[in-house]
Amino acid sequence: MTYARITGSGSYLPEKILTNRELEGLLDTTEDWIYTRSGIRERHIAAENEFTCDLAEKAARAALERAGRTPAEVDLVVVATTTPDQVFPSTACLLQNRLGIQGCPAFDVQAVCAGFIYALDVVYRYIRTGGSKCALVVGAETFSRILNWEDRSTCVLFGDGAGAMIVEEATQPGILSSHLHADGSFKDLLCVPIGVSTAHQEMLAGKAYTEMQGKEVFRWAVTALGDAVIEVLEANGVDRGEIDWLVPHQANIRIIQAIARRLDLSMDNVVVTIDRHGNTSAASVPLAFDEAVRDGRIKPGQKIIFEAFGGGFTWGSMLIQT
Ligand code: ACO
Repeated sequence: MTYARITGSGSYLPEKILTNRELEGLLDTTEDWIYTRSGIRERHIAAENEFTCDLAEKAARAALERAGRTPAEVDLVVVATTTPDQVFPSTACLLQNRLGIQGCPAFDVQAVCAGFIYALDVVYRYIRTGGSKCALVVGAETFSRILNWEDRSTCVLFGDGAGAMIVEEATQPGILSSHLHADGSFKDLLCVPIGVSTAHQEMLAGKAYTEMQGKEVFRWAVTALGDAVIEVLEANGVDRGEIDWLVPHQANIRIIQAIARRLDLSMDNVVVTIDRHGNTSAASVPLAFDEAVRDGRIKPGQKIIFEAFGGGFTWGSMLIQT
């Protein structure tokens, strides 16, 4: 039986940091409101001439180095992003070209904040069925580009960044299971309501901004993610006490705390980056994973749950053995 294992991770955050204090000067908001409601103190913002593929490339090269692989060994490139550089080619094709490789499949996955879980699920299934031996999977966003910087209810919550993993075929697990969900009937609660096909004039005028009914999204995220983490435990016959780490999507510290409670997990066993990263959408799970691998919290032989929730709604959970 072929398993899929994460053999390396990498991440990248743009240099510029935007603090809550700085936002106080730009909007009718306070450091205290943002921190107490969301857990965010600061976020990284891409430079004007820095695009999603730039962030993705830096994270990808770091993951390759960590896995001890060269770009030439990669046989599948999947990028999760809501903020591609171009309508087409996909950011995955742009990234493949930057890495100097040709021929292998390369495509984007769009599931907003659940995008990385979706992309990793695709890679997991490719490897399990023999379609790939060494895959590069990236979550990369310049979410700051689809925020209305005059809307205090959304713009304070997000940031830019990228995280990447190399996933390889192996004789030992690996990714133990993956559980994805979506419900498009909630399309209006969290969205950028226009796109190329519906309103290209507004798009060109830069009016494609994120809209969110925060309270409803919060309630749904807590319920759906709580059920998703129980689903992944039950599917694997694993007890709550066996989980070493929760690596959650970083949308709101109160959502993260609620999911930790569903798992009876101390917050000491939860990787939290939201205070410094904000919500980086598809980049948030691989960014958090990479941070905890690099600082030595995540070690070989541990059981880890990934979970994420995003616009669509889309959500999912995975159980990983490191
Ligand atoms: N500063 C000060 N006041 C603010 C701000 C701000 N930045 N933003 C909103 N307010 C005000 C509101 O106007 C409201 O005022 P009112 O009561 O006079 O109308 C008040 O603060 C309370 O707002 P609420 O919406 O009730 O605040 P809540 O406690 O729900 O927190 C938040 C808001 C942080 C957005 C929360 O609802 C949340 O995190 N929601 C879920 C986000 C999420 O999980 N998204 C999914 C992933 S994202 C993706 O897929 C793209």
